[in-house]
Amino acid sequence: MAEVGCHIHFLLLPASLLFLLVIFFLSPLSQSNFTISFSIFAPNSSTKTNQKTPQVSPLTVPLSSAASPLAPAAPLPSLNGATTGGDVVSRPKKKKSSLERVEDGLTKAREAIREAIRSQNYTSYKEETYIPRGIIYRNPYAFHQSYIEMEKRFKVWVYREGEPPLVHGGPLNNIYGIEGQFIEEMESEKNHFLARHPDEAHAFLIPVSVVKIIKLLYMPLTTYSRVQLQWVVTDYVGVIADKYPYWNRSNGADHFLVSCHDWAPDIGDANPELFKNFIRVLCNANTSEKYRPQRDVSMPEIIIPKGQLGPPLVDLSQRERSILAFFAGGAHGSIRKVLLEHWKDKDNEVRVHEYLPNNTDYFKLMGESKFCLCPSGYEVASPRVATAISVGCVPVIISDYYALPFSDVLDWSKFSVYIPSKRIPEIKTILKGISDKKYLKMQKRLRQVQRHFVLNRPALPFDVIHMLLHSVWLRRLNFRLPTP
Ligand SMILES: *[C@@H]1O[C@H](CO)[C@@H](O)[C@H](O)[C@H]1NC(C)=O
Ligand SMILES: *[C@@H]1O[C@H](CO)[C@@H](O)[C@H](O)[C@H]1NC(C)=O
Ligand SMILES: *[C@@H]1O[C@H](CO)[C@@H](O)[C@H](O)[C@H]1NC(C)=O
Ligand SMILES: *[C@@H]1O[C@H](CO)[C@@H](O)[C@H](O)[C@H]1NC(C)=O
Ligand SMILES: *[C@@H]1O[C@H](CO)[C@@H](O)[C@H](O)[C@H]1NC(C)=O
Ligand SMILES: *[C@@H]1O[C@H](CO)[C@@H](O)[C@H](O)[C@H]1NC(C)=O
Repeated sequence: MAEVGCHIHFLLLPASLLFLLVIFFLSPLSQSNFTISFSIFAPNSSTKTNQKTPQVSPLTVPLSSAASPLAPAAPLPSLNGATTGGDVVSRPKKKKSSLERVEDGLTKAREAIREAIRSQNYTSYKEETYIPRGIIYRNPYAFHQSYIEMEKRFKVWVYREGEPPLVHGGPLNNIYGIEGQFIEEMESEKNHFLARHPDEAHAFLIPVSVVKIIKLLYMPLTTYSRVQLQWVVTDYVGVIADKYPYWNRSNGADHFLVSCHDWAPDIGDANPELFKNFIRVLCNANTSEKYRPQRDVSMPEIIIPKGQLGPPLVDLSQRERSILAFFAGGAHGSIRKVLLEHWKDKDNEVRVHEYLPNNTDYFKLMGESKFCLCPSGYEVASPRVATAISVGCVPVIISDYYALPFSDVLDWSKFSVYIPSKRIPEIKTILKGISDKKYLKMQKRLRQVQRHFVLNRPALPFDVIHMLLHSVWLRRLNFRLPTP
């Protein structure tokens, strides 16, 4: 009880305060005397720009519905004139380079996905424990095959340069905890996707934690300038681009970074050219700002209490949901202000509170609600979305410009409700207009969606970490690097 109470407080605090608290709890170090040396990762810093033109083809997203440009026969774009579909040109006389082997594997994966779309079935080499089917998926066959191919082939190299705490590992708890959980999982020896050698890798993780950087270099907060943050990331990239051929050969297109921090979309601002092709896995996925849907990946924000791996999972068979719609939280950002203005403590069915009375269980209330309102706060993402999914409450997304997580694969309209911010006054009418029959369908689908938002350590098939990896895999499938 006490623990849950504590989470309620977290949820109701202004984000800035929350942020300070998180920092405070996580940081045993005295930050006041921590100054960044000009180069952390290398003796000498590099401020060079990468002038080569990107060798990346335009993107096509392969998992959209059948009506998309990704019709089975459509060839995926290729850079060197060779088709990526159809026959693989074999050159038996010449030993293949490692990059050729990597690209051949991707070519086979694309073919298998096309075939799965065509035949509406899958081919696998092992027993499948979960077969994604149903309306929650944009194209279940494409997704399933793509997932199978990922499990079979995908290898990620995690650069080893740099020392903790700025690099390697990250926060494991609270609203940004997914960042550290992902980095830690990727660096684990047990991770099946870890490349043994960078030559066999399809993608490269820059294991920098933005949350850690902010904690160590900015706290106590005296500036909002992103310069130091940009500097650390740019410096890291400079080091690995100097030392190894991988960054330069793709101009960063097969490299990625994972961060849940609000500031993470700003990392490349000081050197946009360098980060032009870079993949960023972000919670702050505002399409009207710096999030680029085709290149970046949207990551769910998840409340991770200490000693746990996420919000409680609630038994979905429980039908007792006496509250029509529920929200509790501070007036952060313009959308929540409007929401509170219209609904705060005014309606018995649409229960909107700024503060919950003492001794009320936030998660329990969400579990007793049919719909959980998930408005943007200071940023578009809200941990309420993942919480709603885990307690079986249909999420109501009230957010403009939010790229929802895994929307390459998942059709959110089948298990959530979207209400644009200008229709906040109509919330009750809109939700009451959803029939019981339709509601129960949506709720049933939530049960299926749950597995994709659950955090496991070690990660398990189709869970949130593997879904994030799959999103990166998809972006890697979308281009071909030129082979010599
Ligand atoms: C910062 O560290 C230096 C060297 O370790 C020490 O001499 C100095 O007193 C410290 N300053 C503060 C404000 O702690
Ligand atoms: C780093 O800079 C110093 C002084 O500027 C120079 O003497 C040294 O050779 C440089 N080291 C490398 C690896 O470039
Ligand atoms: C789909 O593929 C699986 C595995 O290859 C096979 O067992 C199954 O019979 C196929 N189903 C159909 C309808 O072709
Ligand atoms: C990559 O490109 C940069 C900038 O052009 C260059 O300084 C660096 O040496 C290159 N790296 C390798 C490994 O050649
Ligand atoms: C709720 O708890 C806070 C802090 O424990 C206390 O200050 C406040 O008076 C309590 N409010 C009510 C209504 O009991
Ligand atoms: C998303 O970006 C737009 C454009 O900058 C901005 O107006 C909006 O407030 C942002 N959304 C949030 C929740 O910060």
